[in-house]
Amino acid sequence: MCGIMGATAQRNITPILLEGLERLEYRGYDSAGLTVLVDGQLKCLRRTGKVAQLKQLLKQNPVAGNLGIAHTRWATHGVPTVTNAHPHQSHQRIALVHNGIIDNYEAIRTELTSKGYVFASQTDTEVIVHLIHSYCARGLDLVSAVIRATKRFTGAYAIGVIDLQQPNRLVAARMGSPLVVGIGSGESYIASDQLALLQVTDQFMFLQDGDVADLSLDDVTVLDRAGQIVQRTVSRFEYSNESADKGYYKHYMLKEIDEQPVVIANGLGQYLTDWDTLETLFSKNAHNRLMAAKRVQIVACGTSYHAGLVARYWIESLSGLPCQVECASEFRYRQPVLLSDTLLILLSQSGETADVLAALRHIDTDYLVASLAICNVPSSSLVRESDLSLLTRAGPEIGVASTKAFTTQLVALLILTLVLARTRQSLPKPECRMLVQLAKLPDLLQQVLQLKDVIETLAGHFANKHHALFLGRGSLYPIALEGALKLKEISYIHAEAYPAGELKHGPLALVDRHMPVVAVVPDNSLLEKLKANLHEVRARGGELFLFVDQLVNIPTDEAVHIVRLPRVDPLLAPILYTLPLQLLAYHVAVIKGTDVDQPRNLAKSVTVE
Ligand code: M6R
Repeated sequence: MCGIMGATAQRNITPILLEGLERLEYRGYDSAGLTVLVDGQLKCLRRTGKVAQLKQLLKQNPVAGNLGIAHTRWATHGVPTVTNAHPHQSHQRIALVHNGIIDNYEAIRTELTSKGYVFASQTDTEVIVHLIHSYCARGLDLVSAVIRATKRFTGAYAIGVIDLQQPNRLVAARMGSPLVVGIGSGESYIASDQLALLQVTDQFMFLQDGDVADLSLDDVTVLDRAGQIVQRTVSRFEYSNESADKGYYKHYMLKEIDEQPVVIANGLGQYLTDWDTLETLFSKNAHNRLMAAKRVQIVACGTSYHAGLVARYWIESLSGLPCQVECASEFRYRQPVLLSDTLLILLSQSGETADVLAALRHIDTDYLVASLAICNVPSSSLVRESDLSLLTRAGPEIGVASTKAFTTQLVALLILTLVLARTRQSLPKPECRMLVQLAKLPDLLQQVLQLKDVIETLAGHFANKHHALFLGRGSLYPIALEGALKLKEISYIHAEAYPAGELKHGPLALVDRHMPVVAVVPDNSLLEKLKANLHEVRARGGELFLFVDQLVNIPTDEAVHIVRLPRVDPLLAPILYTLPLQLLAYHVAVIKGTDVDQPRNLAKSVTVE
């Protein structure tokens, strides 16, 4: 989705804005631009395509100044063109960048047009800059004009605005879209993601919905939605700047796949330290709320939804609580019949996914014992707005295709399951067995990563395929779904996942020698059933690619490719068997030469509907 950068400093901010945009590239975008105040004039440069092209344009038309804003745009209203790219300007005086969607822009556009404003773009954003200009033209200062204008919008926005007539002032506002202020020494910044600002500061202030921030060189004043000056906490970024760098890796995705044993080990260290004090693990009255839960409703999107599907198997079998899982984009528009004492779990790595936030905001809280955010970003809207939170501690994830954020979600969900089971004593000390097994997990994951070369060879079989089927049973079915999603996202091969038992109810018709069938085959209670399904595939000429427990016996022939995985407790198998599917998708994409980290049409964090 779109990315925002802004700076006021006593040095040339153009390279800072550009580096910020590069750091935001991972979010997905189709055009980029910046506006810098140069010698009393607003200089605006915009390009469709990548930030590298904007850089090229800057080489030919260098701009240097102390105040500026910049943007990467992911088109919603109006196709990706230079005129639709941000920043937008009004009367060469006000310049603005915007993330989000202004729902009532048409009415405001009509009103402004009748007053003589001429629109250059098809965007909803342009109404914001003209409206702010109209108030400034009536004598309001920039902050007052922004406050007045934002009161009129419905929808979501994060904006950064500058005014030619106020050369050290940067004004920002947010409602529904994330925005962070970076505090430097004698300089101030804004960005839609703190990762963009790690080059200049590690001190951040997260704006809340309705906030308007007035930034000067050495001061930041924040006004809340009531217009009152408020103090927002300044916090330090808890990871190193390098954690968001690619290092020697060709792609972020591979780096993030490789990081899984370490981030999971770190997460486990933290969870197990806080194991006896649920208040520390989840915050605010966690013990009583979790004790009171009689059922669980999980809501999430994409990969996080798959993590929720795995959790259903764990929660129901270990804690005995009934558990429902639903895509947030469906849940938010249904009238779900909630029963009392529901624990609502919102799963999201970013904590800014529009559908997940909408689900939280629209639910009837009378039925809830608590809303619980399971999230990777402590400062996110989801964590702030939920009663409880459990942090997944994966560190920054830059690749659009989620990898370590998914497996750390699974670990967090397993920890939650054990907590729920323990609080209602549903199993005799289930945590004892699981905690021992969990401690072994990082080592087992490391062993799976050693299989990289084998999986890379296997990937060669997929490069010319147009379709693939993924199969799993029980808690491994969501892992098949996740494997298929990874392959689709980054290699653009059409992939579908099925519970293997469903094969003969339809998808078997697709199977012939051109259809690769991938299956995850741990040693569990459904093994013999799954083997029978695999026979059905072979009998129809389908080529099998199997990730199999090392002691499981599978008949082989030239069209059965087997990769052996270390033995693992069946409860942990979903986590372990995810890694080879991530590696398979990664290597297929590399062979096909697609943009692994920024696949076409996708954005890292889907902050609009
Ligand atoms: O930040 P979230 O976990 O809420 O994001 C949800 C999905 O948009 C996300 O998982 C998406 O499916 C990823 N691209 C998957 O790789």
